[in-house]
Amino acid sequence: MNYVIGFLRAPAIQGAVVSPATGVAAVPDRLSKTPEVARLSWGEPTAQMSLLRWLGALLLFDGLLLLVAGRAYVRQWWVGAAPSRYRRAIEWLARRPPWLLRLAGAAEAGLGLAALARAPVDVRSLYHAVAGVYDAASWLWRDWLDRDAHRAFDRALATHLLPGGQVLDLGCGTGANLERLLAQGLPFGCYTGVDLSEAMLARARAKFGHRANARFQQLDLLRDPLPEGPFDLVVSTYVFEHLPDPGRVVGKAWERLRPGGYVLLLFEVESETWRTRLLEPVWRFFSAHLLRQAEYRRFPGLVSAQRFAGPLTTAAVAMLHKPGRPG
Ligand SMILES: C[S@@+](CC[C@H](N)C(=O)[O-])C[C@H]1O[C@@H](n2cnc3c(N)ncnc32)[C@H](O)[C@@H]1O
Repeated sequence: MNYVIGFLRAPAIQGAVVSPATGVAAVPDRLSKTPEVARLSWGEPTAQMSLLRWLGALLLFDGLLLLVAGRAYVRQWWVGAAPSRYRRAIEWLARRPPWLLRLAGAAEAGLGLAALARAPVDVRSLYHAVAGVYDAASWLWRDWLDRDAHRAFDRALATHLLPGGQVLDLGCGTGANLERLLAQGLPFGCYTGVDLSEAMLARARAKFGHRANARFQQLDLLRDPLPEGPFDLVVSTYVFEHLPDPGRVVGKAWERLRPGGYVLLLFEVESETWRTRLLEPVWRFFSAHLLRQAEYRRFPGLVSAQRFAGPLTTAAVAMLHKPGRPG
């Protein structure tokens, strides 16, 4: 039973240590070997995972149909079926009370979600697949789901970017944050966007590659060193959810930040609502997790972390400031 509960529970990072010198939180090596953290390094694709993914998708799809259409969905199973034990079984099922059928549908869909959450897609493959439609879909979170958080992020950008400032964008994707800077006419000096996915970067380069003051680099935030800098402003939107250990990446960015510089982050956070609980396996399927307060409270130089509840999710805009005078 414990195993089943552990299997379905969200992974958690516990026991991270805050360095008194830098204020940076790090997950100790001892801990990085624990099953919790190992599970957070979103697994490599295997045959079992593919199978689980297919099974999960099938159960989710079938369960949702049963949940929504109830008896009508069960009845269509025997359309054209010759009289048989199978047909009698379905007829028996169709005579059950509608609420029972819907409950069975919900349980089946839940099982499907749990299976999908156990077989997350690889981040690079995910963005390779969605790069072509990413920009077209971005109004969904920019103008609907997280509209208020985006407005707050835009205001913070305008307030904290110095004229001529060097900007680093962690997980720049197709260049949404460069687009913001340009749309607001902010006088940045040079913009550097880094991302894991070549497919997303290709989109960004196609849009902004001609600009002399914008450059893009492929790297893995978890494994590779960040560009030298120093930077006046580090930004990142919707990336920390994909990082098993966001604190470590913030620590790396902090080292590249000029004294007096700012870090502005936008990410989805955990909230105590049924929607959060319901959507948790979906996030995990996309190799992502909602950040917990305990995680981002440990970021160095944290000045503020405003939360914005949207129709489905809650986003946070966090601002970090490195003490010192801008050089
Ligand atoms: C949801 S998209 C956000 C893109 C962009 N920041 C935006 O707001 O539209 C997440 C991006 O994070 C990138 N990413 C995820 N994990 C990464 C990692 N370990 N290193 C670098 N980039 C990563 C993905 O490739 C993807 O482009």
